[in-house]
Amino acid sequence: MCADTVAHPNDLESNWLPFTPNRQFKREPRLLARAKDTSYFKPDGTEVLDATAGLWCCNAGHCRDEIVKAIQDQAGELDFAPTFQFGHPKAFELASRITSLMPGDLDHVLFCNSGSEAADTALKIAIAYHRANGEGSRTRLIGRERGYHGVGFGGISVGGMVANRKVFGPLLAGTDHLPHTYNRAEQKFTIGQPAWGAHLADDLQRLVELHDASTIAAVIVEPMAGSTGVLPPPVGYLERLREICTKHGILLIFDEVITGYGRLGYATAAERFGVTPDILTFAKGITSGTVPMGGAVVRKHIYDAFQTGPDHLIDLFHGYTYSGHPLAAAAGIATLDLYKRENLFERAREMEPVFAEAIMSLRHHKLVADIRCIGLAGAVDLLPIDGLPGKRGFDAMRAAFHDHNMMVRVSGDTIAFSPPLIISNTEITDIFDRFTKVLDQVAKA
Ligand SMILES: Cc1ncc(COP(=O)(O)O)c(C=O)c1O
Repeated sequence: MCADTVAHPNDLESNWLPFTPNRQFKREPRLLARAKDTSYFKPDGTEVLDATAGLWCCNAGHCRDEIVKAIQDQAGELDFAPTFQFGHPKAFELASRITSLMPGDLDHVLFCNSGSEAADTALKIAIAYHRANGEGSRTRLIGRERGYHGVGFGGISVGGMVANRKVFGPLLAGTDHLPHTYNRAEQKFTIGQPAWGAHLADDLQRLVELHDASTIAAVIVEPMAGSTGVLPPPVGYLERLREICTKHGILLIFDEVITGYGRLGYATAAERFGVTPDILTFAKGITSGTVPMGGAVVRKHIYDAFQTGPDHLIDLFHGYTYSGHPLAAAAGIATLDLYKRENLFERAREMEPVFAEAIMSLRHHKLVADIRCIGLAGAVDLLPIDGLPGKRGFDAMRAAFHDHNMMVRVSGDTIAFSPPLIISNTEITDIFDRFTKVLDQVAKA
């Protein structure tokens, strides 16, 4: 039978959803058909409050007219242009706009299409940089427990979320991990940066003594660990990491895929915490989630190390067909314009105390084990059901969507909140009122 005569009913079976229990989803789908500003809409038109900016990405809110128009116009003007040996104006314009938001001399961007690609790009640049610099023995990559750097082999090798690693074989050789920075006894219900934990950065010194600095290329951390459940850095921790990296010639990489573009009230977490990495990765918020895009921004001396040799030789054998795609570049420029015009980073900063008070109002609920928050990001750890880790969190996410028309992000028994930066006071109150009802419902089940 000719392939196109085989009818595949649209029964949701063909699409294998990522990071989803497909068997359950297909029995009880959670479908999102439309979106505007802080809301999604189900296919039947029911409004769903978006408490997570999609997947930590729609920072300007959904379907914003200016961004939509920029993408539409771009699609009619230049659909695709290769960026291997060629270029198009908007990718250069966006790169300049991005670097002007970066601290220090982080002034060159290599574009890709996702946070995972950005992490792998940064790790590869770090290794290649040392080699270009005459230090080819520096190949070891250090990540952190509970870290998330996407799903590429590089990212999961330095990442520290067990489920993302354990079924994928031996991963990259030559990696190691710092301890994570969470300690419930010391940090319970902290708003902002916990006072306890700066000393955990000293573990990098131990790894230097174990492996020798001459074998270490880079350390990669999320300045605020997001996917593992919002772990703001302890006061002084990032500074200590920076100090040890500088002392031993190790590149410090900040994965700012979540923290970039306003989530913490600044263009970057580097700016908020006053610590400048050598490489900074971004994705998500750069286009407010509208068109896939990511990138790695590097300091001047890193870029310069590759600008040697005869003119016909490529400087870095790395990149993607869609690096700096015209639609993504147009969306990125329009998004940065919107962030600026509406002062959305400052707005996030102003809303931070309102958000913190609202999320902390859940602290006395009998299902709540801990809450953390910073900027417009927060997480609530729920008490797990004995013998069924992750079930309570999953039930809460389901109940939020089906019974309370709200989208939240679940990771194990932790529920994360990261609303669009345009969220209003009343909507923040609404999110946590609804979530209280979710918890009451889940507690009864
Ligand atoms: C810190 C961090 N790095 C990398 C990624 C991976 O991004 P993507 O899913 O776009 O590959 C994520 C995604 O949530 C992330 O939070």
